Amino acid sequence: MIVGVPKEIKTDEQRVAIVPSGVAAFVAHGHTVLIEHGAGLGSGIPDEAYRDAGAELVRKAKSVWDRANLIMKVKEPLGPELKWLRPSHVLYTYLHLASNEELTRALLKARVACVAYETIQTADGALPLLVPMSEVAGRLSIQKGAFCLEAGVKGRGVLLSGTSGTRPAKVVIIGAGIAGTNACQVASGIGADVTVLDINLQHLRYVHDILGGRITTLMSNRANIEEEVTQADLVIGAVLIPGALAPRLITKDLVKRMRPGSAIVDIAVDQGGCCETSHPTTHSDPIYHVSNVVHYCVSNMPGAVPRTSTFALTNVTLGYGLAIADKGLEQAMANDRAIRKGLNLYRGCVTYKAVADAFGMEWTEVAT
Ligand SMILES: NC(=O)c1ccc[n+]([C@@H]2O[C@H](COP(=O)([O-])OP(=O)(O)OC[C@H]3O[C@@H](n4cnc5c(N)ncnc54)[C@H](O)[C@@H]3O)[C@@H](O)[C@H]2O)c1
Repeated sequence: MIVGVPKEIKTDEQRVAIVPSGVAAFVAHGHTVLIEHGAGLGSGIPDEAYRDAGAELVRKAKSVWDRANLIMKVKEPLGPELKWLRPSHVLYTYLHLASNEELTRALLKARVACVAYETIQTADGALPLLVPMSEVAGRLSIQKGAFCLEAGVKGRGVLLSGTSGTRPAKVVIIGAGIAGTNACQVASGIGADVTVLDINLQHLRYVHDILGGRITTLMSNRANIEEEVTQADLVIGAVLIPGALAPRLITKDLVKRMRPGSAIVDIAVDQGGCCETSHPTTHSDPIYHVSNVVHYCVSNMPGAVPRTSTFALTNVTLGYGLAIADKGLEQAMANDRAIRKGLNLYRGCVTYKAVADAFGMEWTEVAT
């Protein structure tokens, strides 16, 4: 198979979908790998490293799309890329379609097969291609949240750790999955006063145990969210209903009742956000204010630390990518239900139920 890796064109996105060791693996399996010139530079990977691993460097993005069957990316196709899609393509990337009707319709029209990283799901319910980016986003959310509390961006002027003789900041984390647990680890490690809420008691028990009881865990319900959010300095939104829009747990009215200068980092903004006042922002313009509350809602947070993120991501995408290239998409899905779960769109049909439900579209189950 011909595998194409274009340079990412989303604003401020510096990650790349493959590293040189991944190229070497595809080549060893008999595949051709096309890398657009400069695709790895944002992650500190020069063209020569790809060439040495056996890739063919291609100057024009369009040529990568024209020649490849399997397109490996990090973020959704944008702008000119949408015109270069062909029905023979398998697009393997993060897509988050449930929050993007326009993109869903464009991909349906192009009749391309779309395997979304974020919905590849193993039998135990785990989402292995979301995990490393959620780890990055969860850890980074505290770093960004600390910045949002600074006076320079109209934050409360609170230091997360506090100092000897002053209180630490109160950090409220909604969702105790991968991102939430990683946020808890960093926030409690820095010395903040941390409370985490979830509807899943096992997740709460796990985070309580690994942090040796140094945080407060609470059942997520309307009353507890209201009480915690109104007292918080920093709120981290880290909920997920796989493949679906995030539940809007923090209403506009609740934001109005938050402390002036407090902050919300809504990690879940890539799934629509768990706060009614959230809308996606970019790394170059990440922050805005609603009712005197600082909002940070960057939908591709790991892009801020591209080198770590690229290596963390490609550690987990490579195996499934190789399976698709070796066997072809249909056989790879038949052999591995995790890949079948990743299929969101197939030749003009929506094959992932939560995406169909989000837009009132028809859902087609692909037989494998
Ligand atoms: N912005 C970014 O750059 C970025 C990067 C990575 C992940 N994400 C997003 O972060 C979010 C979390 O991802 P994850 O991998 O940690 O997911 P996860 O499945 O590991 O965890 C989600 C948690 O949310 C909990 N939850 C569901 N409904 C809830 C509710 N009503 N109240 C409280 N908790 C609830 C679940 O029980 C689960 O523990 C997702 O929306 C994901 O897309 C965003």
